[in-house]
Amino acid sequence: MHMSNKSLPARTLSVAPMLDWTDRHYRHMARQISHHAWLYTEMVTTGALIHGNRGCFLDFNECEHPVALQLGGSDTADLAQCAVIAAEWGYDEVNLNCGCPSERVQKGAFGACLMNEVDLVADGLKAMQDVVDIDVTVKHRIGVDKQEEYAVVRDFVGTIAEKAACKTFIVHARNAWLQGLSPKENREIPPLKYEYVYQLKRDFPHLEIILNGGVTDNDQVAEHLQYVDGVMVGRSAYHQPLTMMGEWDARFYGDAHAAMTLSKLVPVLQTYAEAQIQAGKGTQLRHMARHYLGLSHGMGGARQWRRTLSDAKLLAQSDAGLLAQAAQALGV
Ligand SMILES: Cc1cc2nc3c(=O)[nH]c(=O)nc-3n(C[C@H](O)[C@H](O)[C@H](O)COP(=O)(O)O)c2cc1C
Repeated sequence: MHMSNKSLPARTLSVAPMLDWTDRHYRHMARQISHHAWLYTEMVTTGALIHGNRGCFLDFNECEHPVALQLGGSDTADLAQCAVIAAEWGYDEVNLNCGCPSERVQKGAFGACLMNEVDLVADGLKAMQDVVDIDVTVKHRIGVDKQEEYAVVRDFVGTIAEKAACKTFIVHARNAWLQGLSPKENREIPPLKYEYVYQLKRDFPHLEIILNGGVTDNDQVAEHLQYVDGVMVGRSAYHQPLTMMGEWDARFYGDAHAAMTLSKLVPVLQTYAEAQIQAGKGTQLRHMARHYLGLSHGMGGARQWRRTLSDAKLLAQSDAGLLAQAAQALGV
């Protein structure tokens, strides 16, 4: 069993699990910007982990700690088995997805529909907790479909805390509508109810309550942190990584190292990209460059940076020098 004896930072800030976005290349970049924020993988299903190519789903860069593996699944034995795999692979946390509304996920009976199966979730989390020393956490919504009352999420959290001794709850502060909305619409249309998340912290002061959903700048982060233990940021951390995460260490972790800038970051990313390409495992520049597009957010010449780094012909050469070339056009 993996013994977690590293001293880990608080989950004051974290970057949300995002399928297709928060792969190890994105997380490597995010880690250059914030040394302390928790990073979450894309969701990996228990079936994929048990039957698929583990390295492909699990490999991460050593610099990524603290890093959490997010699982999708609901079978108790499978979840326990995958929690062990996560711990042995070196993850600092394993998180269960009870928030994803996609139909593909509903068929597998996991994701947001698990909010209607609190006993199953509690059993799964307990089974995971029983076999690993790393933190076992859950990410969920405040309800599904037309469940509008605060009591829904209160009872969900209360039951899991009691039955599974789970201590960390990451709450996407809106409902999931299981029918009629695409996953994208489900991140935009159901209204955000931050007050419900604040109330969870008041009702369960001994639990770690992390708020997620719709946070777009660091003043909002500071405001939420008056009421909850941490804030998880998804889309803004992806689309504007430097503006969003650049302040985190100094402002929220009391670590005033010099803030990362694009001119400092480009050579680091270039070295990383070169090594990844040379490792010969099929990684190409485009696999990394796609995550770098947002780095120029808010800067003059941002469009040129994005154009260069998304130019299929240029990317096809898979030469990491393209990063320096793109930066030159930006004047950094
Ligand atoms: C492209 C994309 C993929 C996502 N994939 C996942 C996922 O795999 N697991 C999960 O729990 N949430 C997933 N989410 C939801 C985010 O984790 C987060 O809860 C949501 O985007 C709200 O936070 P935000 O407003 O800060 O983006 C995804 C979101 C996006 C935009």
